[in-house]
Amino acid sequence: MEGLTVVGHPLVQHKLTLMRDKYLSTKSFRLLLNEVGMLLAYEVTRDLPLELVDIETPLAPMKAPKIAGKKLVFAPILRAGVGFLDGMLELVPSARVAHIGLYRDPETLAAVEYYFKAPADLAERLVIVMDPMLATANSAVAAVSRLKERGAREIRFVCLLAAPEGIAHMRAEHPDVPIWTAAIDERLNDHGYILPGLGDAGDRMFGTK
Ligand code: PRP
Ligand code: URA
Repeated sequence: MEGLTVVGHPLVQHKLTLMRDKYLSTKSFRLLLNEVGMLLAYEVTRDLPLELVDIETPLAPMKAPKIAGKKLVFAPILRAGVGFLDGMLELVPSARVAHIGLYRDPETLAAVEYYFKAPADLAERLVIVMDPMLATANSAVAAVSRLKERGAREIRFVCLLAAPEGIAHMRAEHPDVPIWTAAIDERLNDHGYILPGLGDAGDRMFGTK
């Protein structure tokens, strides 16, 4: 599908399988989420434009490639998106961070905002929104809408698991926002959870269940 990349890298797939296991500890779940965040950062930045700059090695002058153009903003959706953040920042330490606090109302599954703090110059930056779970996509759609209201013009969305329903919703509401995911699962259950999925990512990451 246009605008959708499934990251099939064996390391990502292996770590995802470990994370799906309901017997995995909170500590290991958090560690793996961080590691997968780093691997997904590698994929989502794969096509960043390069420019040649003049440098001098100890032996000779040369023209060498550096990342050109827009600077990055990482935008985790709280809480579980924070699990990706440190891994991504390890690869791109100069990125700015926008925090987007949203939770799903358990009855309506609507996204409820409780916090938003972003750099002022969103219009000049590439914004990478991150959340391990794309279920109904109500949270992702609300996060991207809010970032656009604040001026963001170029946005990408990265998750670990996506439901077909969430992908369709996100593509319909924000067709300009490409999606990266490690897997597309079967469907949502009656409570809006991804099947087979990995459960509630925030609870598994913070041990709150
Ligand atoms: C989870 C998850 C996503 C959202 C995905 O968050 O981390 O943000 O659900 O579901 P959706 O695609 O149907 O919107 P949750 O609302 O449980 O909040 P939490 O991360 O604070 O636990
Ligand atoms: N949020 C989660 O954390 N897990 C799901 O399966 C759906 C939404």
